[in-house]
Amino acid sequence: MSAKIIDGTKISAEIRCELKEEVAGLKAQGVVPGLVVVLVGDDPASAVYVRNKGKACIDIGMASETITLPASTTEADVVDLVKKLNADPRWHGILVQLPLPKQIDESKIINAIDPAKDVDAFHPFNVGKILIGEPIFMPCTPFGVQELLTRSGNDPEGKHVVICGRSNIVGKPLAAMLVQKRKGANATVTIVHTRTKDMASYTRQADILVAAAGSPRMIKADMVREGVVVIDVGTNRVDDPTHPKGWRLVGDVDFDAVKEKASAITPVPGGVGPMTITMLLKNTVKAAKMRSEGR
Ligand code: GUN
Repeated sequence: MSAKIIDGTKISAEIRCELKEEVAGLKAQGVVPGLVVVLVGDDPASAVYVRNKGKACIDIGMASETITLPASTTEADVVDLVKKLNADPRWHGILVQLPLPKQIDESKIINAIDPAKDVDAFHPFNVGKILIGEPIFMPCTPFGVQELLTRSGNDPEGKHVVICGRSNIVGKPLAAMLVQKRKGANATVTIVHTRTKDMASYTRQADILVAAAGSPRMIKADMVREGVVVIDVGTNRVDDPTHPKGWRLVGDVDFDAVKEKASAITPVPGGVGPMTITMLLKNTVKAAKMRSEGR
């Protein structure tokens, strides 16, 4: 079998089309959904992500601003800025790009964001709401994974989903989302991680395998069963002298070998990546809608 490719670029474009219409509807009522992004320091990869987020907002008719601060900015100054943005009615969503410089405690900054504007869904209030099945926002990458599954005809209901990786950004919230008694979820979920003994004995039981371990091509063909659906969250830069940049992106899955056993698989790039920004837009539109409805 050679797998069907789950095209994240195409699914992402469909969702952005839906969002563009929703934004037009809100604007007709005098509401312009707005996202403000805070970038501290000069990490080149973060600068690219932030630029792409701003551009995506403008493309669907939203308002967007990026505030860039020097790498030497203090924690107190970032907290003060976040408090100002919490109080600024122009912004429905606030995103502070991570990682932050080492003198800043990320959790202090996340805790300072108004949960109603926390479109990353990183604030402990929103994490708790997800866990008890009353989500306000869902974190962008896991939300993108769920949309890729449901929109590609691979609803996780009744399936065994094995997640490789237990990060706060992907593995843990995705497990909490997929186990809920609700549409697009109802899965049996296993998380495996670096301390799991005989990881392959679990991954081979997966109907749906989500690779979010941050380790290039670690999922090999002998670790999956025939017909598995594979979602690859990995974005690892590996050296490639034949490439103009000297590197290229690979996922956490040995794509060429695994695609011969899988029934469906996401590519890297072009799978989960484009979905993450799209779900950020979706959360910001939801935040604008909630406020306009007094929720
Ligand atoms: N850095 C890398 N991905 C993300 C993300 O989804 N949100 C934030 N705030 N920072 C990131």
